[in-house]
Amino acid sequence: MALWSGRFEEGVNEFTQRFGASLPVDKQLYAQDIAGSKAHAAMLARQGVISDEDAQAIDAGLTAIQNDIEGGNFVFDINNEDIHMSVESVLTKNIGDAGARLHTGRSRNDQVATDTRLYMKARAADLMRANVALRQALVEQAEKHFDVILPGYTHLQHAQPVLFSHHMLAYVWMLTRDFERLRAAYKAADANPLGAAALAGTTYPLDRFQTTAALGFDHPIPNSLDAVSDRDYLLDLIYACSVSSMHLTRLCEEIILWSSAEFGFITLSDSYSTGSSIMPQKKNPDFAELIRGKSGRVIGDLVALLVTCKSLPLAYNKDLQEDKEGAIDAADTLHDCYVCAAGMIATMTVHPEAMMAQAKKGYLAATDVADYLAKKGMPFRQAHEVVGHLVLLCDKRGCDLDDLALADFQAESDLFEADITECLNLEAIVAARTTYGGTGHEAVRVQMAEAKEALACDEAAAARLG
Ligand code: ARG
Repeated sequence: MALWSGRFEEGVNEFTQRFGASLPVDKQLYAQDIAGSKAHAAMLARQGVISDEDAQAIDAGLTAIQNDIEGGNFVFDINNEDIHMSVESVLTKNIGDAGARLHTGRSRNDQVATDTRLYMKARAADLMRANVALRQALVEQAEKHFDVILPGYTHLQHAQPVLFSHHMLAYVWMLTRDFERLRAAYKAADANPLGAAALAGTTYPLDRFQTTAALGFDHPIPNSLDAVSDRDYLLDLIYACSVSSMHLTRLCEEIILWSSAEFGFITLSDSYSTGSSIMPQKKNPDFAELIRGKSGRVIGDLVALLVTCKSLPLAYNKDLQEDKEGAIDAADTLHDCYVCAAGMIATMTVHPEAMMAQAKKGYLAATDVADYLAKKGMPFRQAHEVVGHLVLLCDKRGCDLDDLALADFQAESDLFEADITECLNLEAIVAARTTYGGTGHEAVRVQMAEAKEALACDEAAAARLG
């Protein structure tokens, strides 16, 4: 019998019952549903709306249900539309009238919003911890291969030499920003809708501040209509997941390229690679590809919820039942991608000689040679032209800039002197980039300290969230 059977002469049929149910998804919220109900019952008793005996019976009954669910002894009956009705109907069956008093001054509209917010706070905190672990793995590789030089690219063409540590730290900063987005999503979820009831609040003397404190929310939501219809906190979380997932596609794309025979910059560990069923020699970066591929679904989850919420009039509409599946999927997916990427990065082998060999190709010193002339007074545009001629000469001879004789340089400009060789040394080229945020060793050491400080701060913040 449905909880609203009083007004109805007929029930829905089996198909529509199943079609209308959210239980297969929201049963994951059982712990939050029970916590919310306990807080509501305790508050009702303190406000004199129900008796202390009823509140105690409700509390004990809910604990028993939680034990049953966790022990695998709870029957989820699809005739109950959702987790809220499942728990309440079994509670009432088990403890009688006290159970039937639990829903006083409450609606599933504020109940579902409460449960989902509690659940998403926990998920955001999990994601923040997994984000920190991935940053840790990147920092460790950066420290281990601090001095290694590889070609920096623009347009995927050799551009200027950079430190491997600098390259890894670029990803650490992306993920540091992702952490902030996750923190913002946590904050957005951290407000209590309970007590808004169906949409308008209730006539019972509910104390919303009591349930706010009991459930660990930051504050009660100030508008009952907004409380039951706001899903921004889910959008914020899926957006945070989407951006971070996109960042992982960039990292994984490089892992895939770097592990190819053409680059040979890294070797993935066997535990993060797979073979081929037909080609015995194959070692494929499947997991990096999978992380890259999963971003499609996460970003799809964001678009799906944006469209679901679009044009919805206040307050609750059943459309909103579609909100949880995508948000849970986005959080699950990104979490597992973080874990997988962290393991893959921590276990990969870096090949400094292969990186260096590539850095020696493609005239990576050209900008520095032009700067050499500019520092001696030649206007930079003119210096650019002179070095362009030298590169063309190398191209024709099939050599690199450091194969040219001093006379070759001097034939283009008499500003060149013997010290030009210093401009051709990759180590020196890198080290000279001393500006804050540059790839010079000293600058990267400063940056590394900052990245590690942010990491330690975020690790502590995520741990405090429990
Ligand atoms: N199963 C519903 C959901 O997830 C719970 C709220 C139902 N409220 C209602 N007025 N039908 O959205």
